[in-house]
Amino acid sequence: MKAVLSPEHFNSTLVNWASTHGRHDLPWQQNPTPYSVHVSEIMLQQTQVTTVIGYFQRWMSAFSNLLALAQADEDEVMSHWQGLGYYSRARNLQKAARYLVDEFSGHYPRTLKQIEQIPGVGRYTAGAIVSFAYDERGPIVDGNVRRLFCRYFAIEGVPSTTAVNKKLWEYAERYTLKKDCRAYAQSLLDMGATVCTPKNPDCPNCPLMDSCQAYQSDKVAQLPTPKPKKSTPTKIGQFLWIEQNHQLYLQKRPAPGIWAGLWCLPQLAAEQVCEISPSQRKGTFKHVFSHYKLDAEVLNCKQTNGLSGQFFSIEQIKTLGLPTPIRKFISKHLSLAK
Ligand code: ADE
Repeated sequence: MKAVLSPEHFNSTLVNWASTHGRHDLPWQQNPTPYSVHVSEIMLQQTQVTTVIGYFQRWMSAFSNLLALAQADEDEVMSHWQGLGYYSRARNLQKAARYLVDEFSGHYPRTLKQIEQIPGVGRYTAGAIVSFAYDERGPIVDGNVRRLFCRYFAIEGVPSTTAVNKKLWEYAERYTLKKDCRAYAQSLLDMGATVCTPKNPDCPNCPLMDSCQAYQSDKVAQLPTPKPKKSTPTKIGQFLWIEQNHQLYLQKRPAPGIWAGLWCLPQLAAEQVCEISPSQRKGTFKHVFSHYKLDAEVLNCKQTNGLSGQFFSIEQIKTLGLPTPIRKFISKHLSLAK
């Protein structure tokens, strides 16, 4: 079996490959700053590149620098995130901007240690900011790198476990040099996204094929070791549809909890959930979260006693940040517009 490449040789192989086969036209690759890299990396954490592109461009137009984001109205911040999901990411970004304005007069620090202290920034994001914005040494392990390393070094075990995660970061430290920092980091992500893909990896076109430990032992399909699947629970949710004078009643979701900061139909508390007759039902929708499935029922309701929301016209609703399934439900059922 052929041994793995040295860090130097591994680097030059990937950087060479990326110069012809890598992605160079993504909007966050144009004039990257710590702020633009921070925003794009947070958006890319749980969302595909093609979806992120538009959100990133609109976000950068609306909040073009840290100060603008720090001073922005929370509703405006949330409305720029609506549809991306995992909304704590948007709140954390604003928290980070306020932290950087308060603690660093709005200037990004330069060291990995300081960047890791920013709210919402973990080891990966800190490494990405240092690599992409400063072109300095910043080791990264994200889903792409995890897959590539598990295969290339034939690392067995579920990657999210402490032991395997530690091993992956050790390889990242060892294989990240003080040379071609930006190009190397981008080449890892591009390889993971286009060649060393989760399904049907393109091994014949991989520049690392000859020394890939998984390829040589025919284990590419078995690595990374899959996480044992546990079934996700289903929760029932009941929401209220209160329509008066061509207006709809919405409540801002409290933090912490799902959809915090977004405007939503009022939801009954778990202990208030009850059986209803079909005539009371406006409709239903389903939504899948990372930890559970939501089976929702929307009930017709006439009064707002004890609720802390407000009525909005259809025109106002268009400008608010709403969870995607709620927005879809409303547009399907709305009779407000005359
Ligand atoms: N996924 C995570 N970060 C990325 C980046 N900078 N470019 C492309 N895909 C990514």
